[in-house]
Amino acid sequence: MRILVLGGTAFLGRAIVAEALGRDHHVTTFNRGRRFSDVPGVEVIRGDRTERADLDRLRAGRWDAVVDTSGYVPRVVGQAAAVLREVAPVYAFASSASVYVDRPRLPVDESSRVFDCAPDAGPDDGDYGTLKAGCERAVVEHYGDAALLLRLGVIVGPYEDVGRLPWWLARIARGGDVLSPGSPDVRMQLVDARDVARFTVDLLERGQGGALNVAGPAGNPTFGTLLSDCMKVTESDARLVWVDDDFLLSHDVKPWSELPIWAPMNAECGAAWQMRGPRAAELGLRFRPMSETLADTWALMRTGWKPWPRPELPELGIDDGKEQRILAAWRARGTST
Ligand SMILES: NC(=O)c1ccc[n+]([C@@H]2O[C@H](COP(=O)([O-])OP(=O)(O)OC[C@H]3O[C@@H](n4cnc5c(N)ncnc54)[C@H](OP(=O)(O)O)[C@@H]3O)[C@@H](O)[C@H]2O)c1
Repeated sequence: MRILVLGGTAFLGRAIVAEALGRDHHVTTFNRGRRFSDVPGVEVIRGDRTERADLDRLRAGRWDAVVDTSGYVPRVVGQAAAVLREVAPVYAFASSASVYVDRPRLPVDESSRVFDCAPDAGPDDGDYGTLKAGCERAVVEHYGDAALLLRLGVIVGPYEDVGRLPWWLARIARGGDVLSPGSPDVRMQLVDARDVARFTVDLLERGQGGALNVAGPAGNPTFGTLLSDCMKVTESDARLVWVDDDFLLSHDVKPWSELPIWAPMNAECGAAWQMRGPRAAELGLRFRPMSETLADTWALMRTGWKPWPRPELPELGIDDGKEQRILAAWRARGTST
């Protein structure tokens, strides 16, 4: 197949490129060449997707499918879809679980309500999830049933440039008492970018369209196994001190950012959030063990790789002083574990 990836040098896009090249597909990437290196073996087209003239250059190509991992603004995604409709019959869009109105309060499947956002909305017309919903509409407007909408949960693995798992690995490697959020039994649904990539390329080869939830199975992993596997991988003697959600919230710990991946439990989900994805499982989504994801991410970090700064996202990780103050307060409360 001939596959065009919009992006293709950062994290998920990079994994998709590697997977497609590994299957001997011809891969073209379109990006500005600003931050990351190109994956060896790709044909590179440099351009800015917000610039009409750069997009127009894609009219000269022919592909069997497009994968858009770098779309965040409906108007911008719609412009690409309008151009590419002429030269590629399938458009896979990296969307997000954040398109669902009731997430994280309720479990969500593909029939759950999605935010209402115009397909030509601009960057200031909504938050991340709302705009992703508008991007989906923009793709469907041009591609109809040939739009493949991958509603992704939390993705981890090598090159994860949000930096969530890298933060935990680095924190645990540093050792000492580690503020461990919630309970070790809390179930997450993480998915390795390389498993998303394998699944995506499978779907492209079959010409699959439609909306699909893509997340790990519940308990992949629990927070307890995640952090104890971080200890094994980094050979750390850290001591995990589990502190409950209410205590963390009352000490102003910000969910998702200060303790990455942690968010308070939602009773109706039996977890912080829950995505149901039986359709993806039926279509062949498979998961590698999280211990492999951690080992490979740590191995990459040991080469000196670091997540690229993302000034558009909230700062990741809790300040050392704040972590130790909360741990001291927790112990003073007499309930340390
Ligand atoms: N991480 C998660 O847990 C998670 C969860 C749900 C959904 N997602 C979705 O998964 C996707 C993540 O993909 P990713 O990590 O591979 O990449 P990304 O960070 O979204 O995009 C980066 C890629 O796009 C290129 N790019 C950025 N702006 C561009 C522009 N104006 N014109 C042309 N190219 C541009 C970048 O290269 P240059 O900068 O060199 O141009 C780079 O190749 C996103 O769509 C995200 O919403 C992620």
